[in-house]
Amino acid sequence: MTKLLPIIFYPCINLRKKSKKVVDINSKEIQQLILDMDKTMKEKDGLGLAAPQIGKNINMVVINTADGSIVLINPRIMRKSWKKELAEEGCLSLPEVYGLVNRHKKIKVAAFDRKGKKVKFAAEGIFARVIQHEVDHLRGVLFIDKAKEITKGKDKLNQLRNSDL
Ligand code: CO
Repeated sequence: MTKLLPIIFYPCINLRKKSKKVVDINSKEIQQLILDMDKTMKEKDGLGLAAPQIGKNINMVVINTADGSIVLINPRIMRKSWKKELAEEGCLSLPEVYGLVNRHKKIKVAAFDRKGKKVKFAAEGIFARVIQHEVDHLRGVLFIDKAKEITKGKDKLNQLRNSDL
């Protein structure tokens, strides 16, 4: 059965840890986690969800695209365009907070898919942005670390910062 997973909020320490490589992609546990993360992302209307956000510090993200969701396991950004783009971002772990973040316009990504098959592809625009945001999560980096400006939810951000977790 697929279940909704509780999302971890900033400033929880799990969001700051470096994630570990996924070894056994075909294991029951990982396959179940993929389904559960996908359901959770869709239920919360997220563009993406990284495993640390549900308390698992492993290198796995799900991304919501117009053509359905994709899973990236042990993802690596191989190439980044020189050109960057500034746009507004949010994060399910920082509800109501938005900020302007500069991201590479185009990237090349290598990862494993949900079946453990190696994939390589190019991404640009919003797709490239979401991948960069989610891959940052795996290194303990949040969009607020990179934001040039917090555009919405400054008070909320302070509230979160000062909350006891
Ligand atoms: Co996020």
